[in-house]
Amino acid sequence: MDYFKGKTAVVTGAGGTLCSAIAVDLARKGARVVLIGRTEEKLKAVKNVIDDFGGESMIAACDVTDEKRMCEIAKKIGERFGPCKFLVNGAGGNNGKVMTTNKCFEQGELELDNSTEFKGFFNIDMNAFEDVLKINTIGSVIPSRIFGRQMAQNGGGSIINFASMNSYCPLTKVPAYAMSKSAVMALTKWLAAYLAPAGIRVNAIAPGFFANERSEKFLGTPETGLSPRGQSVIDHTPMERFGKADDLLGTAEWLLNDEKSAFVSGITVPVDGGFLTRSGV
Ligand SMILES: NC(=O)c1ccc[n+]([C@@H]2O[C@H](COP(=O)([O-])OP(=O)(O)OC[C@H]3O[C@@H](n4cnc5c(N)ncnc54)[C@H](OP(=O)(O)O)[C@@H]3O)[C@@H](O)[C@H]2O)c1
Repeated sequence: MDYFKGKTAVVTGAGGTLCSAIAVDLARKGARVVLIGRTEEKLKAVKNVIDDFGGESMIAACDVTDEKRMCEIAKKIGERFGPCKFLVNGAGGNNGKVMTTNKCFEQGELELDNSTEFKGFFNIDMNAFEDVLKINTIGSVIPSRIFGRQMAQNGGGSIINFASMNSYCPLTKVPAYAMSKSAVMALTKWLAAYLAPAGIRVNAIAPGFFANERSEKFLGTPETGLSPRGQSVIDHTPMERFGKADDLLGTAEWLLNDEKSAFVSGITVPVDGGFLTRSGV
């Protein structure tokens, strides 16, 4: 429990569903937690929770793909909390604009331009496509460069990236997200090998399906009714439920803690209610 005490943990996407829970948990374990995300209000809500139990945290509102600004805030973080020991690269996600309407190509889509409701591979929004690639890939590379440097200067540390079920096999309708989360797995392995001599371990968590504000629009909820896609997810999840943010805490703690996972690097751990065990046939 004392392992995290007084050490600095940087959590990106800390205002979000999954990483807010990880940030609060690390603060409960005594870490000094830096909350990074673009929307200050979301970060304040998490900081308030941490303040309530006397934990230590600070807010750094920033776009993680903005390297210049991230360098500036890293300096401020260092002055206040000292060098980073743990980095959780949670900022990321999909964008509805890059979801195709259909699972497979339809001949008729060739006649459509970008203004129609039907979105196929040939007329989805390329700007949004690039944004999704950027946040999920470069959005982990930049913090890893900035805070990994601090770790390398101070005897090492541990980094967790966020992969997805898409890292193993792409889901239908989400081309940019699938491509980017597959890249996260490759980045995790590459960085693990590269940074091993610096005493830095790099691993990833691949959450199964966890309801968040955005995914609820596409999946529905058991309470309000599941969409056909949401029902399909549950049918393919042997534990027959969506994940809850707290389901990730044990895995995150294990991967960050050198006393528990010192010889573990480059892996992606599925936390998915068994989703990967079921082919669906
Ligand atoms: N929920 C799931 O089922 C699931 C499954 C597999 C993988 N994941 C991955 O797990 C991670 C966390 O997911 P989540 O469910 O907690 O999503 P979430 O609730 O949408 O939280 C993601 C957070 O990332 C922040 N963010 C997005 N772009 C950013 C940027 N450019 N710079 C800084 N912050 C940024 C967002 O805050 P701002 O908009 O305020 O910046 C948001 O609070 C993501 O990488 C996601 O892809 C989630």
